[in-house]
Amino acid sequence: MELLVVKDENEVGRAAADAVIEGLSGAEPPVLGVATGSSPLSTYRHLAEAVKEGRFDPRPVRAFALDEYRGISPEHPESYHAVIRREVCERVGLLPEHVRVPPGRAKDPVSACAEYEAAMAAASGVDVQILGIGSNGHIGFNEPGSSPTSRTRVQRLAPQTRRDNARFFGGRVEDVPEECVTQGIGTILEARRIVLVAQGESKAAALAALVDGPVTVDCPATALQGHPSVLIVADEAAASRLTPRG
Ligand code: GLP
Repeated sequence: MELLVVKDENEVGRAAADAVIEGLSGAEPPVLGVATGSSPLSTYRHLAEAVKEGRFDPRPVRAFALDEYRGISPEHPESYHAVIRREVCERVGLLPEHVRVPPGRAKDPVSACAEYEAAMAAASGVDVQILGIGSNGHIGFNEPGSSPTSRTRVQRLAPQTRRDNARFFGGRVEDVPEECVTQGIGTILEARRIVLVAQGESKAAALAALVDGPVTVDCPATALQGHPSVLIVADEAAASRLTPRG
């Protein structure tokens, strides 16, 4: 894994956007894995800048989102369907018909998840996957205990994740859905290139476990240690607990 430590959130976004553009170049069509949460927002801002500057064409890009809550409507402003529509389609300019989000409302989630995986495979997989990391080390919504070979499926959210995400729901933990659909760790690991972004002190422990710790299901992100092409872009606060490198 390659680690890049930069000053602040804006610089994380700049470096990650450049890595995304580079990783997608030459792919036909380019397939981007998109993440939600606050971490990738500066990356999307810089991708939007690159579009304005003529350095990135979003129109041919196909995209697959990592996860979605269960039990809220796609019209809910904090559903990941809505977040992806705002931040990826409206801001960056990807075409809505090229962007898929996991099926949070499916009546038959098992076949809907299999269909999502089949759509990813039919697109020849993901060229670059943007990832955040949860304060408990989750990627997508793969909570501690998730198998490194897991596929797209329904998961229960960890109490820590519901507390962390209450800020998107007016501070009310009880309004954060209890379940989600998430790509599995095995699904995520099939991306050809992974760009993980982390900002702020609240991510420092999870990042230290990812970079310096052993591979363990207690910190799902550590499964990335076995991937051949991972770039971690962190700001100084998120990198503050890493073992100093010579
Ligand atoms: C969220 C998402 C993840 C995200 C992580 C961190 O709940 N499901 O994809 O990477 O948790 O969120 P944030 O970037 O807001 O800290």
